[in-house]
Amino acid sequence: MSHAPERKGRPMTLTRLAEKKALGEPLAMVTAYDYPSAQVAEEAGVDVVLVGDSGAMTVLGYPTTVPVTVDELLMLAAAVRRGLTTPFLVGDLPFGSYEVSDEQAIATAQRFVKEAGCDAVKLERGGTSVQRARAIAEAGIPVMGHVGLTPQTATALGGYRSQGRTAERALDVVRDAVALQEAGCFSIVFEAVPSALTELLMPRMEIPVIGIGAGGATDGQVLVFHDLLGIYDGHAARFVKRYADIRDQMIAGVSAFAEDVRKRRYPEPDHGYTMAPDEIDRLQALLEPSGEPFTGGPSL
Ligand code: KIV
Repeated sequence: MSHAPERKGRPMTLTRLAEKKALGEPLAMVTAYDYPSAQVAEEAGVDVVLVGDSGAMTVLGYPTTVPVTVDELLMLAAAVRRGLTTPFLVGDLPFGSYEVSDEQAIATAQRFVKEAGCDAVKLERGGTSVQRARAIAEAGIPVMGHVGLTPQTATALGGYRSQGRTAERALDVVRDAVALQEAGCFSIVFEAVPSALTELLMPRMEIPVIGIGAGGATDGQVLVFHDLLGIYDGHAARFVKRYADIRDQMIAGVSAFAEDVRKRRYPEPDHGYTMAPDEIDRLQALLEPSGEPFTGGPSL
């Protein structure tokens, strides 16, 4: 069993994130859903870790992000917190946990901070979410916005498709992004929007913009852990770049184990624990005091 990760550097703060934007230093963000993925993110030195509601699909096996509950995401977020020291930790507010009222949004955001140790929360959409973002920020919890393709409301958007591809729809994305910025979001995700729209919008963005399928003009990029490492078996969006094929390696490893067990090649002598020969002799004597073969419970 490995130990808690070494602290790689100073913990990331809102100030340092803003400084990085000002200096033009790209921000790397990745999702994580458990202790080992958090340790990997820590060791890799990313700036921001998101406990995304994408965990609904990647680790909980739901068909979409919609069904995941606050309690389920809180459990994942708390595990991530235990594996993380340096990156800024953002918890995704799941669908249905913040839309009803400012009070509901603040209460849910507070749970992510109090119970899971998140530094900030993320919510999706413009529209009514702008006021929810303002309320959470005014309650003292940093908020990250998310515009463009917002998977929680993908049905209303016509499916998992890129957004803002006509001038009118692009204007909607611009309005939402600027409104979330004005509502006090410390950062915002642009998902699946045309690169040209991002380029036109960036001069209006004073907060760090993290892109996923939004081109190269953003201040940073995010990918889903299971997508970038090739762990997830589901459909990969166009913007996903695979940096490893971990799933294949996992299947190969588990298959080799199962094969070794079946062929009695595992365990090998080195995998067992030893017992001193005189202790073995004593045990045999205890088990067979009369010299009769041992047949039942120990005759102690
Ligand atoms: O849930 C998630 O993983 C996300 C990222 C794609 C930004 O929202």
